Amino acid sequence: MSDSHFTSAILQWYAANGRDLPWRRTRDPYAIWLSEIILQQTRIAQGQAYWERFMARFPDVESLAAASEDEVLRLWEGLGYYSRGRNLLAAARQIAAADAFPSTLEGIRDLKGVGDYTAAAIGSIAFGLPAAVVDGNVYRVLSRYYGIDTPVGSTAAKKEFTALAQSLLPADRPGDFNQAMMDFGAIQCTPASPACLTCPLAATCVALREGRVESLPVRQRPAAVQTRQLVYVYLRCQGRTAIRRRGAGDIWQGLWEPLTELLPGVEAKLLRQGVRHQLTHRTLIADFYLAETQQAPALPDGYVWIQEAELDNYAKPRLFELLLQSLD
Ligand code: ADE
Repeated sequence: MSDSHFTSAILQWYAANGRDLPWRRTRDPYAIWLSEIILQQTRIAQGQAYWERFMARFPDVESLAAASEDEVLRLWEGLGYYSRGRNLLAAARQIAAADAFPSTLEGIRDLKGVGDYTAAAIGSIAFGLPAAVVDGNVYRVLSRYYGIDTPVGSTAAKKEFTALAQSLLPADRPGDFNQAMMDFGAIQCTPASPACLTCPLAATCVALREGRVESLPVRQRPAAVQTRQLVYVYLRCQGRTAIRRRGAGDIWQGLWEPLTELLPGVEAKLLRQGVRHQLTHRTLIADFYLAETQQAPALPDGYVWIQEAELDNYAKPRLFELLLQSLD
């Protein structure tokens, strides 16, 4: 599987186009580890300033290990995913207690907050360990260049792409190769509108030759969306209707909804059945009812009476609007 044309073209591209980043000018494993933790869920443009602040305040692992969690989290503020900040401190204390930064893949992987990807990145960049990183960039570049349509996200894909990336890794420059893949994916072989016209690998790219650049990588079909049945009842009593404000905890938080159950003893007419409404991860299937009564029934918890003419003033989910439309 090794492919010296691919590997040397990527390295050459990196020499000319790689980003000049401060943690690339050092072999200090502490500085490199810090950059990888920060970049786990953060873009370089934002992460770099944080890396510089951390390096200025904590120039080595001992100073970080001696910090309080409060101080670390304050410096982390704005980066999000605060467990990363807590893990950072815990790992610094692991390293300080061991008196040396771990220099094997297993040792690096044992640090708090370090998974396979981050261990491969730190190991290859700081210690020249032959471990290929596999992330979205790598999937994209390799699936296109080799025309691989295994759906990414599957276990099979992880194995296949890891083996391929590993076989392409040059033994003498694993860190450069890994960072070249990151930059090539971020700058040249981008998700949308990749720069194929100026790509040094264009002549041998399977996706480009076969017109499949847009359709690779193949995404695994998301798990079937759940469906949920629900009942919406428009209760009308002397020009008023009953609604309730949804509490915390879901996408409709703060919005107003009608009754979601038929009331015992209150006759209701079915207006529409099986109304489908698509949410991102869920399909709702609703039955709409109209219940008209002269005698105000007791309302379930949280419901209030409002004038029907006031309904416009309340924020409602789309499905409630559909119920209102079916009243006409
Ligand atoms: N993303 C994560 N690690 C990176 C690195 N070393 N260089 C560029 N982007 C990255």
